[in-house]
Amino acid sequence: MTTLIPSKLTDEVVASYDHCPDPRVGAIMTSLVKHLHSFAREVRLTEAEWLAGVELLTQVGQFCTPVRQEFIALSDVLGLEMTIIELNHGIEDGATAATLLGPFYVPNAPELPKGALVCGNPPGEPLDVRGEIRDVKGNAIGDALIDVWQAGDDGLYSSQDPNKGKFDLRGRFRSDPDGTYYFKSVVPKGYQIPSDGPVSALMRLTGRSLFRPAHLHFLISARGCKSLVTHLFVKGDPHLAEDAVFGVRDSLIAEFKPNGGDNGKGYTLNYDFVLSRS
Ligand code: BEZ
Ligand code: FE
Repeated sequence: MTTLIPSKLTDEVVASYDHCPDPRVGAIMTSLVKHLHSFAREVRLTEAEWLAGVELLTQVGQFCTPVRQEFIALSDVLGLEMTIIELNHGIEDGATAATLLGPFYVPNAPELPKGALVCGNPPGEPLDVRGEIRDVKGNAIGDALIDVWQAGDDGLYSSQDPNKGKFDLRGRFRSDPDGTYYFKSVVPKGYQIPSDGPVSALMRLTGRSLFRPAHLHFLISARGCKSLVTHLFVKGDPHLAEDAVFGVRDSLIAEFKPNGGDNGKGYTLNYDFVLSRS
């Protein structure tokens, strides 16, 4: 637990928010100030260390682009995004567990027909992904929008690789009235979080692994339901127990079963998603 050491200076800064017009913003800022001051005192932060922190945040900002959010990556390796998810998405009545969005979501991927291959005709082991979208009472949810994205066989997202199109390995699909969905992709591979930026430098400095276990990303939305941001992880992946961003939940580990198709190289993933009503 953080020890809050009282200080005149801290009180002075906290009081500067006394007239904040939005009480919620005031509450957030005063708590942030108290914790930041307390943190600096607890570790006796030096000026050089404070400047190193400023430099880190500057570089994180400089690495952000419209298709790469290095601040989300920083928040993820610190476990902050998963903490926010735990706070806001308690697992309700068997709803599918939420996990992090990550830095590589690109909105407005092409909407594709049921059974289509994700964009870019990617190389890799062919994968059929099928299942149902239901609510917690078991009712089928038709017309849910299933937005999927993943890294390629080479571990790179389209936004990291100039040889890929903007929407490669991405697509949006709709569930049928009976709740079923189906699309084709390739089996995802485990990868390291981007090793070229300030977040990976911080990970190396602190002796942490950059690996993420293989996964597909999903953002599922449907009328009258809470949107679900989640992943499906490949059962048996060697990095399931040491995800660099703490996103693995047991219920999201799924079996990718060989289906005998595509000259013995094909796999099928069956997974039903359960949404909470809003
Ligand atoms: C990802 O899943 O792509 C990811 C998530 C958090 C940080 C870096 C990458
Ligand atoms: Fe990912």
